[in-house]
Amino acid sequence: MFPAILSSLLVASTLPTASNAFDIVKDYSGTNFFQGWDFYGSWDNLTLGDVWWLNQTEATAEHLAYVNDAGHAIIRVDNTTNVPLNEKRNTVRITTQDLYDWGSLFIIDVLHIPYGCSVWPAFWTKGPTWPDDGEIDIIESINLNPNNQMALHTAGSCLKDDSVPQTGRNVGQDCSTGSGCVVVQTEQNSYGPGFAASGGGIWATQFDISGIYMWYWGRANIPANLAQATSTSSIDVSTWGTPSAAFPANAKCNLTEHFTPQQLVIDITLCGDWAGVPSIYGSQCGHMGPTGTCYQDNVVGPGSPKYDNAFFEINYVRAYTATKAAPTAQSTASSATVLDGSSPTATTVVTVVTTGNPSGAQATALSTKSSAVKSVAASGIGLLAGVLMTFVMIDGL
Ligand SMILES: *[C@@H]1O[C@H](CO)[C@@H](O)[C@H](O)[C@H]1NC(C)=O
Ligand SMILES: *[C@@H]1O[C@H](CO)[C@@H](O)[C@H](O)[C@H]1NC(C)=O
Ligand SMILES: *[C@@H]1O[C@H](CO)[C@@H](O)[C@H](O)[C@H]1NC(C)=O
Ligand SMILES: *[C@@H]1O[C@H](CO)[C@@H](O)[C@H](O)[C@H]1NC(C)=O
Repeated sequence: MFPAILSSLLVASTLPTASNAFDIVKDYSGTNFFQGWDFYGSWDNLTLGDVWWLNQTEATAEHLAYVNDAGHAIIRVDNTTNVPLNEKRNTVRITTQDLYDWGSLFIIDVLHIPYGCSVWPAFWTKGPTWPDDGEIDIIESINLNPNNQMALHTAGSCLKDDSVPQTGRNVGQDCSTGSGCVVVQTEQNSYGPGFAASGGGIWATQFDISGIYMWYWGRANIPANLAQATSTSSIDVSTWGTPSAAFPANAKCNLTEHFTPQQLVIDITLCGDWAGVPSIYGSQCGHMGPTGTCYQDNVVGPGSPKYDNAFFEINYVRAYTATKAAPTAQSTASSATVLDGSSPTATTVVTVVTTGNPSGAQATALSTKSSAVKSVAASGIGLLAGVLMTFVMIDGL
């Protein structure tokens, strides 16, 4: 059943629209925002940033993860401590306890994303075993970049196909390379001060066997059905139009071979294997301090004003499923359910799996090397435990 469905989807190759609504399965918001996430509780041994990702007790006590008076979740870098040389700065990395299967839709409404020299925030997803179970980067940028970029990372070869229109700009086709298959957003104000000043925005990610699709809207352009969405309402993606990034399943990338159910991750690191790479850091921020190095000119010393803008302010994160079936609390056998054989959002598997494993990270390879790529000023590779990061600096930014 499954292969037959996928084959027909591959042939269909149409816009990622659905006639059906997605039902909400989890709402992370308000005073309960931090329920259902695991805090990392270690230094950043994944992307080698100069931070400690505190456990929940410490992060709460240090006021680095909390819900503000407006009911928004704040996840921030410590800006109150004078960090001595050779020590790290405190911040947070959280991962959902639930895993979300094919047929899911993830929506994040954000008012502020961390930015500034040395700062590297991300909202992304991963399977239990990295990189075998795939990685989807939804929000990720560094330093003084004006734009957000999105990417897929796979363990085996998976080539991005352009049969479905997108508004973003491709940088790299092979999702299994160190850089992954990256799409740089072309909308205005998708990152940095411009994003915050314009009131933030919303990203939606559809995780479907027919393709992985991401939409972005700045606050002024949010579709009516999203502006009106509540913590219990269903959502219909059929009116959303062209996505910012489209990764359709295709003959050179069978997505089901590269992705398993995904956990959501929110983290902030400093410097490390992308923001701190000398050629990358230097091109944007090298003039910012006396040494020209990411760690010494930023992490060391007073936290304010350098890290005053290094925080997420999140209205909500919501997970939906395309099926009517209720999620189960444990990993269970799942049955194939086809909602509409002619729709590219036909969904096969209906399961929300719960795991206590906060990261499942196990990869070890480390490699940071710059290489020139057409229309890319600097590009590098970072094979990191739990996250395969993209080192791409776009010309003219
Ligand atoms: C895609 O991969 C899945 C899982 O390995 C497999 O069952 C299926 O037959 C593949 N589909 C196609 C069209 O190759
Ligand atoms: C949190 O981290 C602190 C400092 O490393 C440690 O003393 C404490 O036991 C940890 N708490 C939990 C619940 O793991
Ligand atoms: C840290 O940054 C926040 C804004 O994000 C600011 O309100 C606060 O005053 C800063 N802390 C210090 C100690 O300057
Ligand atoms: C990172 O640190 C954690 C906590 O000490 C550990 O469980 C994990 O294996 C480490 N990962 C890597 C890749 O070193």
